Order: sequence, then structure tokens, then C-alpha cells
Amino acid sequence: MSLSDLTHKNLQFILIGGKGGVGKTTIASALAVHFAKTRKTLIFTTDPAPSLADSLEQKLSNEPVKITGVANLWAMEIDAKKVLEEFKKEYGEDILDILNQGTYLSDQEAGEMFELDIPGLDEVMGLKKITDFMDSKEYDLYLVDTAPTGHTLRLLALPELLDNWIKFLASLRWKYHYMTERFSGKKKIEKADEFLLEMKKTVKKVRSLLQDPAKTEFIVVTIAEAMGVLETEDLVKDLEKTRIPASHIIINNIFPENKCDFCQSRRKNQERYINEIKKKFANFNISEIILHPEEIRGIKNLKNLAGELFSN
Ligand SMILES: Nc1ncnc2c1ncn2[C@@H]1O[C@H](COP(=O)(O)OP(=O)(O)O)[C@@H](O)[C@H]1O
Ligand SMILES: [Mg+2]
Repeated sequence: MSLSDLTHKNLQFILIGGKGGVGKTTIASALAVHFAKTRKTLIFTTDPAPSLADSLEQKLSNEPVKITGVANLWAMEIDAKKVLEEFKKEYGEDILDILNQGTYLSDQEAGEMFELDIPGLDEVMGLKKITDFMDSKEYDLYLVDTAPTGHTLRLLALPELLDNWIKFLASLRWKYHYMTERFSGKKKIEKADEFLLEMKKTVKKVRSLLQDPAKTEFIVVTIAEAMGVLETEDLVKDLEKTRIPASHIIINNIFPENKCDFCQSRRKNQERYINEIKKKFANFNISEIILHPEEIRGIKNLKNLAGELFSN
């Protein structure tokens, strides 16, 4: 199975993951340029420091922007942290109201409600925004640059983690049980419940999409170094544990052969790790990308890279 097989699979959701600096954004952009040839494609980035705009050499925003030079391609930046903040804001005020009524809860306890940070929750909310978009059926294919971290994957796999929130709110309910009867706090508690229910629904929705091999593929990007192998192992383990379909690994920045003594030496060094990756991930399709003499930016260069990726 080669990368080209993905072209015929009619996927709806492709995530590009790997450690920082390995070429995720560049490869995600090249894939988007490729897939847009046959399908209306939207590429998202959820990277807090997005470089998608640099890669495509076009200004982006939190709404889809049509990419000039590629028919059928749109791009969009999502600030996952902001999405979570907005979500909390929508429901948080009512909760805070309850907390602030009377002297029953210390300021510290009240603050706890909002500081109750679940690692990966912001990214889950970012993914929610993406799945909301998918409901619109506006595009055929959605590509995500900067895929979820291990935290997010675990959160998706273990919705029980959300129970921290639920337990906390349940304890509040206890503390304020009599208040809800005395004052008209009932509505507010209901709003808090609504918040939790919404969170649970979001996790369920995102998870079922991510685990559907007919719709979703996670492409792992790495480099031929000891750290690259280790990080790929971790990521692949997380993907297996969370049952997210992944069958492709792209090794980026491979030194060209016979260019110079330095390149040759580095290449030899890299080959050791390329072989290790091939052996360790024997059931994956492995693609290799040569280190280009210059940065890969702009549509023309991305088209060339896509050509390299799908040449065999
Ligand atoms: N095969 C390659 N050859 C040359 N430069 C590359 C290659 N792949 C990526 N780059 C460059 O490396 C830098 C980092 O790539 P980027 O895609 O932003 O990484 P990430 O998204 O993983 O942080 C960018 O300047 C990009 O143009
Ligand atoms: Mg990036």
C-alpha cells in the first residue's frame, strides 16, 4: 500500500502528526495541494504558533480562506485554547454565579472550577470545532496539521477522565443542594449539567470519527534520528491504544546520495534509522522525502513536493 492508495480511499479526515520541526506543516500543505486536485479540501491548523500561512504563503484567519493557485483548496487556523476559553465562558458564568453566592465556597475553591485543567481538553475542543465544520458537509476532505498530542488521544480514549469535572460539579451540587431550593439556583445547576453533557457528547463524536478507518487516517511524520524513532514509537503506541487508523509513516529530511562527503556521511547515519523504522513498523507504509537545498514554501514548491510524495 502506498500513499497513492489514500487518494482512492475517499477519506474525510486526515491528520498529520509528529514532533515539532519534522516537517508536518509542509507535508500537510503538500498533501492538501495534492488531494485538492480531485476533492474539495479544507486544511486546518491547530498549532498555537501556526506556520501554515507561511507554508502556503497566504494570510489565513479563523474562517476558511480560499487558497490562490490551487482550485478547490481552503485553509483555516484554529486557536484550540481560545475555543475552550469561549466554551467555558459560555457556561462558566452561571457556574461562577453559584460559586459566588454566599460564603459557602472559598475564592480558592471557586477558582478551582476554572483552573481544573485537563491536559488535552483544549485540543479536543479544537477538534470539536472541526467536526462541527464537517457536519456542514461543505468540503469533501478535511486535513489537520498538528494532530492531537498523546494527552488529547488519551482523553478521547478515556472519557472517564472527564469525570474530574463531573465529580467536582457533583460535589458542588451537594454543597449547594439546599441553596438550589431556597434560591432560584436550579436553572444554573442545569446549565452546568448541560456543559458536562456537551463535553461528553463532543468527546464521543470526535472519538467515533477518529476511530473510523473508512473516514480517517493519521499520517505520522518523522526524521531519521534516534529521537525520531523514539517519538514515532510513542505516537504509534498512542494511536494503537486509542484505535486511530494509521498505516503511513513519512520520513522527512533525508540527505541526498552522493552529493558531497558530508551528505554521504549524514546519509549513512540516517540509513541506520531508516532501516530501524522499516523494521519496527513493518506493517506501515514508509515514504521518504529528501532534504531539499532550500525551505519548501509556496504553492509551486508544495506542488513539487506532492509530486515527489505520490510519484511511486
Ligand atoms: N524536505 C525538506 N527539505 C527542506 N526543507 C524542509 C523540508 N521539509 C520541511 N522543510 C522546512 O523545514 C521547516 C520546518 O518545517 P515545518 O513543516 O514547519 O515543520 P513542523 O510543522 O513539523 O514544525 C520549514 O522551514 C520547511 O520549509
Ligand atoms: Mg507546523
